[in-house]
Amino acid sequence: MTPRYGDYQLEIYLNGLDGVLPDLPMTFAGLHRRAAEALPPSVWSYVAGGAGNEQTQDANVAAFAQWGLYPRMFVGAADRDLSVDLCGISLPSPLLMAPIGVLGLCAQDGHGDLAAGRAAAVTGVPMIASTLSVDPLEDVAAGFGDTPGLFQLYTPTDRDLAASLVNRAEAAGYRGIVVTLDTWVTGWRPRDLATANFPQLRGHCLANYTSDPVFRARVGAHASTQDVVRVWTGLFGNPLTWDDLPWLRSLTTLPLIVKGICHPDDARRAADGGVDAIYCSNHGGRQANGGIPALDCLPDVVAATSLPVVFDSGVRSGSDIVKALALGATAVAVGRPYAYGLALGGTDGLVHVLRCLLAEADLLMAVNGYPTLADLTPRSLRRVGRALDLP
Ligand code: FNR
Repeated sequence: MTPRYGDYQLEIYLNGLDGVLPDLPMTFAGLHRRAAEALPPSVWSYVAGGAGNEQTQDANVAAFAQWGLYPRMFVGAADRDLSVDLCGISLPSPLLMAPIGVLGLCAQDGHGDLAAGRAAAVTGVPMIASTLSVDPLEDVAAGFGDTPGLFQLYTPTDRDLAASLVNRAEAAGYRGIVVTLDTWVTGWRPRDLATANFPQLRGHCLANYTSDPVFRARVGAHASTQDVVRVWTGLFGNPLTWDDLPWLRSLTTLPLIVKGICHPDDARRAADGGVDAIYCSNHGGRQANGGIPALDCLPDVVAATSLPVVFDSGVRSGSDIVKALALGATAVAVGRPYAYGLALGGTDGLVHVLRCLLAEADLLMAVNGYPTLADLTPRSLRRVGRALDLP
């Protein structure tokens, strides 16, 4: 049995009896509003913004409202089991923290990656640590406690550097490698363009490079920030093709998870290439506008292979998590909401956001009569918001 996540509400109500009210928002709308005030404008626009006119980003969120969960009665779902196995990794819940490159900058003390690592330890929610972090991946992993962590790789053009990053992640105890495929070049992001703001080009979030022996050999000793940024710019993005998959696979014996897959044919081909899981995501609409909501891609990606599927893009609530699970996801990652919690309250703020998501998901399963994740299937859902198909 997993922790009784829903009891978070009891804690909040009981605190209220002593006159203690939550000082952090209880909704995504509240998080969004307050994070906009708390973060420096350049960080806010980078985190909250997306590609083009942000239509895909908004559609990701709206897609969840197209589905409703049937309530089932006489089930007696007094105990819920949200535990899951992801590529041999036992997790108390299916929730993950999606990799967020500027997480470090979201925290008031400038060390948000470390704060997220500590939040993973407190909540049991694994962090997928981004390649682009303020603190090196080893320092981030040091905070994980007993919670497993995953390392997200932006594959550089320099294969030795890629191997070095993966080797370091293995040595630091990460339990899987998530290779992000959709970001070898940055998408067109008007909000950031309007302020000519791109954090990495200003030397931020490059600690995994500057702490890496292969990268350091490339930049030379006594390199200035400008030197580092110049070398980094030259090797950051690798436009991978299927021919590169055997090499990627050969880099590690850890579970290999490929992120950014939205087409069932790509899922099949990745499975044939020996990956261990598919990560269905459109990067929260940050990379390509004019796309398909990621949730709409999920069922076909799930059906394409027998591999586990991680899902993200547009998850804003516990009910969103439950819907993605019902559509076949094995695990669900949350992105912007936890970055906002971090911005508002450091580790505590982040923990609050994760606990809210888990509590809502758990209570939804209780109220609607789904005691285990296996009970959540596409048949638990119904399309809403359109006319009934009458015979
Ligand atoms: C991201 N995302 C991301 N993905 C990744 O693989 N590596 C990374 O470094 C980053 N960096 C990053 C920065 C910021 C500010 C955001 C908001 C997102 C994408 C992330 O993992 C995830 O796919 C999206 O955040 C999911 O969309 P929502 O839920 O945030 O809308």
